[in-house]
Amino acid sequence: MTFENLLLERDGAVAVLTVNRPKVLNALNAQTLDELRRAILDLKHDASVRAVIVTGAGDKSFIAGADINELAVQSPIDGREHAIRGQHVLDLIEHLGKPVIAAINGYALGGGCELAMACTIRIAADTAKLGQPEINLGIVPGYAGTQRLARIVGRGRALELLLTGDQITAQEAHRLGLVNRVVPAADLLNEARTLASTLAAKAPVAVRYILEAVNKGLEMPFPQAQIFEATLFGLVAATDDMREGTRAFLEKRKADFKGR
Ligand code: COA
Repeated sequence: MTFENLLLERDGAVAVLTVNRPKVLNALNAQTLDELRRAILDLKHDASVRAVIVTGAGDKSFIAGADINELAVQSPIDGREHAIRGQHVLDLIEHLGKPVIAAINGYALGGGCELAMACTIRIAADTAKLGQPEINLGIVPGYAGTQRLARIVGRGRALELLLTGDQITAQEAHRLGLVNRVVPAADLLNEARTLASTLAAKAPVAVRYILEAVNKGLEMPFPQAQIFEATLFGLVAATDDMREGTRAFLEKRKADFKGR
């Protein structure tokens, strides 16, 4: 698979997807969004990939949002279609069935912050800046930023960020719970790779079901979410990995999970 605006490398079970338009701070134009859609579907269906890292090219920006050159000329119909396409791509990330780590190496603004929020875990460089500056362009977020931000940091904090459009530091984002960790910029990719390798060694079916239990369960009434969890708990009992995991514990050795 070839891409003009993405780099995709493999390191064992970990795939690293880099948005590669550094001249425009990795802004997402329509082509890049479509390349992301194709890359993510490919990673979803490749059973040898067990964790994914998403980052931005260069040392200045993760993703500085949707490409404002395209936004500036869109019609109402284009705008609606654009938002639906962006939301779809981010949904694919959230529902990949494998952990996706956002390695936020600089500006994560607008669509960049929204993409990071669709990831499973966010690690930020201490130099990163995050925010939803759409209000300053006279628009609203269109890749579900109003929804994911409120769910991650709470309604009041989300409304403040969305209405001021302010950029916040990585440390402030950590204080709000918007990022999981802040690390020195020079260590960012190593930290992300180490975490990705740790997660890639876990039992893949259990990983997938935990992701589903949290992501789908949060959208359900609590009693239904509990039944959903109980069903997944029952289903993993059918896996070789459950037998391997429990046996390895009893035999005092490290489990070797196969994804079956
Ligand atoms: N869409 C298109 N181009 C963008 C872009 C975006 N979202 N973000 C940055 N760029 C381009 C700039 O136009 C500039 O291009 P040029 O070199 O041809 O002039 C280049 O990337 C570098 O950006 P610049 O603004 O010169 O860098 P800076 O360090 O002064 O500022 C930012 C960095 C991120 C604060 C600033 O670029 C910015 O505010 N970008 C827009 C963020 C935004 O509103 N995103 C939400 C979009 S919905």
